[in-house]
Amino acid sequence: MRKVEIQIKNLPKTIYRLMKWHFFYYFFKKTSPVICVFYITDKCLMRCKMCNLWKSGKNDTLSLDLFKKTIKDLSRSCCYVTFSGGEPLLVEDIIERIVYSKKYIPHIHLVSNGYLLDEEMAKKLAATGIDEISISIDGPREIHDKIRGVERAFEKAIEAVNNLKKYAPKTNIVVNTSIAPWNIDSLPEFIDFIESLEVKQQFQPICNIFESGEFNDYTQSIIEYQKIEKLIIKIISKKHIVNSKYFIFKMIDYFGNQKQFSPLREEICNLPSFYVEVKPNGMFYSCGIVFNKGKAFSLSDGLKKTMRGGEFKQNQLELKRCKLCNKGMYVCYIEPRIAFPVFNFLKYKILGIKLSRNFLKHGD
Ligand SMILES: C[S@@+](CC[C@H](N)C(=O)[O-])C[C@H]1O[C@@H](n2cnc3c(N)ncnc32)[C@H](O)[C@@H]1O
Ligand code: SF4
Ligand code: SF4
Repeated sequence: MRKVEIQIKNLPKTIYRLMKWHFFYYFFKKTSPVICVFYITDKCLMRCKMCNLWKSGKNDTLSLDLFKKTIKDLSRSCCYVTFSGGEPLLVEDIIERIVYSKKYIPHIHLVSNGYLLDEEMAKKLAATGIDEISISIDGPREIHDKIRGVERAFEKAIEAVNNLKKYAPKTNIVVNTSIAPWNIDSLPEFIDFIESLEVKQQFQPICNIFESGEFNDYTQSIIEYQKIEKLIIKIISKKHIVNSKYFIFKMIDYFGNQKQFSPLREEICNLPSFYVEVKPNGMFYSCGIVFNKGKAFSLSDGLKKTMRGGEFKQNQLELKRCKLCNKGMYVCYIEPRIAFPVFNFLKYKILGIKLSRNFLKHGD
C-alpha cells in the first residue's frame, strides 16, 4: 500500500476540537458543526445513471464571498470539510477555496469524477496541502463508462489517480465505488484492480439521494444474496477498503429487503448535532440531501448566528426523530453516525465484530 505522510501537525487541533464538542454536548447540551459538506456547485459534465443532480437542471455555484464567510464561522469547531457537487473541479476558483479553508480547518477532502484532474491540476491540488481526494470509479472500463454516460470516463479517472500518486504524495487517495445491480458482478475482480493501484477504496451502495422525493426502480434494487455474500467475503479480506465493518455487513439487509432495513437500529439521530451541509444556492441544512426533508437556512444570515437561533435548534431536535436513513445506506450520513460521538464508535465497532463473526460462522 502506498504510504501517505500523515500531516501530524493537524492532529492536536482535531483532537482538541473533538474533545471540546463532547464536553459541551454532554455537559451543556450545546452543539457545533464538526463535519461540513459543501455541495459547492450543481454543474457537472457527466450524466451518471444513478445521479439526480444533473437531471435537476440546476446550475448554481456557491459564491466565493459566502463560502469564505462560512469557513470563518466553522473555524473554531469544524474538523472535516468536504468539497462535493456536482463536479467541484468545474469551479474556477476551487484552488483558492481549498487554500482558504486549509487555513482554518484541519482536514480537507474533495470528491471528484477525475475527468479534469490532469497533471497540472494534480500539482495545484498538492500545493494547497489538501488532505484527501476521492475519485469515483464504479467498475471496470466498460461498466464505468456506461454508468457515467461519458466516453473515456474510466481512462480519465485512472489518469487522475495516477497523477495524484505522482504529484500529491502527501494526499490520501480513495476510490469511491457505488454498488448496484448493474456492476455487482464485476466488483470482486475490480477490488483486486484498485488494490493493485495502492490506493484506498470506499463503497457506496446505490441510494435514492440528491434532490428526488420519490423512490424509483434503482433505489429499491434487490441483489441476490449470493452476489452480496461473494462481495462481502472479498471486502473483508482486503485492508485497502475503508468502510466500517458494521456498514459492510448491513448491506445484507439493505440489498435483501429494504422494507425491513434499519442501519442504525432504532436509535435517535445525532447527525444534526455535529454536521451541516451547504448547497450551491447559499442555503444550508442540518441534514438536507435525503428527500430535501431538513429545513433550509440561508448562509446570508450567517451560519454561526443562525445556528444559535431557536428555529435552527428546533429543527435539530425534530430531526432527532427522523428515520429516513432507514431507507438508504448513505456513506456521508451513516458512516459519521457510526463513528461519532465516541460512544457510537465503540458500540458499532463491537457490533461490527459480532456481525463479522456470525457471518463467518454461517459460512462454515
Ligand atoms: C454526487 S457525486 C459529486 C462528486 C463528483 N461529481 C463525483 O462523481 O465523484 C459524490 C458521490 O456520490 C455518488 N453518487 C451519485 N449518485 C448516487 C446514488 N444515487 N447513490 C449512491 N451514490 C451516488 C457518486 O458516485 C460520487 O462518488
Ligand atoms: S455522480 Fe458526480 S459525476 Fe456523476 S452526474 Fe452526479 S455529480 Fe456528476
Ligand atoms: S436519520 Fe438520516 S436523513 Fe434523517 S436527519 Fe438523521 S442523518 Fe438525516
